[in-house]
Order: sequence, then structure tokens, then C-alpha cells
Amino acid sequence: MTFTEIGCGIYRDEKRLFTMDQSVSASKDREFRTWDPHHSKLAALILKGFMPPITESSRVLYLGAAAGSTASHVSDIARNGLVYALEFSPRVMKNLILACESRPNMIPIFADANHPEKYSYLVDKVDVIYQDISQRNQAEIALKNVRCFLKDEGCLILMIKARSIDTIAKTREIFGKEVEKLREGASVLETVKLPQYRDHLAVIATK
Ligand SMILES: C[S@@+](CC[C@H](N)C(=O)[O-])C[C@H]1O[C@@H](n2cnc3c(N)ncnc32)[C@H](O)[C@@H]1O
Repeated sequence: MTFTEIGCGIYRDEKRLFTMDQSVSASKDREFRTWDPHHSKLAALILKGFMPPITESSRVLYLGAAAGSTASHVSDIARNGLVYALEFSPRVMKNLILACESRPNMIPIFADANHPEKYSYLVDKVDVIYQDISQRNQAEIALKNVRCFLKDEGCLILMIKARSIDTIAKTREIFGKEVEKLREGASVLETVKLPQYRDHLAVIATK
């Protein structure tokens, strides 16, 4: 198989995306791990042509890490950096902790992303905030965390899930309103629709 490196630590063949397994449980000969765009909005975003500004030394705050599936690929990319993986559901937290055990650069944080002041003692300033949270106030949560943790030149990648905000209104209207809210505290650079996730919109922003 031929792999091409398309971004820092991100590879692809004709059809699929991969990262290089950096977990301590990986064999000495590092292996490529398939990164499925049907199970990861970040992978879908990369396949749409947006390369996240994550380098091998980046610090990333990941809001809504669930069991750590996408976060583990971010940890492969930022292999000499840090991934703060935040989650508030006790049910999935168990699996997130397990995923972090073999990844020294991935730190599990059990907290509500609505209250950054409760975890600010754990998190340094970061290069990237990635948010994938199903809540009504997604833009508000993102802005609170941008204010607390994003470096001046840092990047926010927000996955807006329309149906968590409003179950009836047209997705276009929901996206429009949520992006407007985000503009109150951040500069929106780009929005990207993801073919695999019809009620989601990826928003790229800076401070
Ligand atoms: C769509 S899932 C994330 C999937 C994950 N990003 C991935 O690709 O592997 C959303 C997660 O956000 C978490 N979540 C929702 N609201 C939250 C909040 N206020 N603080 C922290 N986590 C939250 C949920 O428990 C859920 O696990």
C-alpha cells in the first residue's frame, strides 16, 4: 500500500485516512491506524480539504471527547504535544480513561465544558480547541473556552450539531444563528459542510 503524508502526521491512500499509532501499546514498528470519516467529523473535515493546524508539538483542548476515538488520532498527530480530553458523561469517561492509559500525551478531564473555571488549573494555553458537543449552547461553550485557553494565534474548530439546538427549524437557519453568536467573541474564517454528517457544520475560527 502507498501512503502519502498530507498533513503533519496525517496520511492517506486512495480512499482512506490514517494516523501513525503512537500509543505505548503499539509495536515498535509503528502502525498506520485507519481514521474513519463516518465515525469522526474531524476526519470528514480533513477529507473535505481542511487541514487542522495541529503539529507534533501542539497542545489541543478537546471538548466532548466521548470514549476518545477521534481524540486518540489527535494524540497520534500531536505526539510530542498534549491533548486535554474533556468529557462529562460518567458512562463514557471510563473508556476515555482506558484510552488515555496507553497515551502519555492524552489527559482525561472529567468536567462540564460550560465551566472552564473548574478545570483551568489543569489546562495551559492551547494552540487548538476542538469542540464536538451536543448541547443547545454550543457557540457559548466554545467562546467561554476560547477566552480561557486559546492562544492569541490559536484556532478553534467547532462542530455545530443543528439538531441539538433546535429539532424543528431549518438547519441553515440554525447554523446561521449559531455562527452569528460565535462572531460575538471570535473571528470566523471558514465554514465547511460535511457530507457524512448532514445536520453538522464545521466552523473554523480564531480569537
Ligand atoms: C458526539 S459525541 C463526541 C464524539 C467524539 N468527538 C469522537 O469523535 O470520538 C459528544 C460528546 O460530548 C459530551 N458532552 C456533551 N455535553 C458536554 C459538556 N457540557 N461537557 C463535556 N462533555 C459534554 C457527550 O457526553 C458526548 O460524549
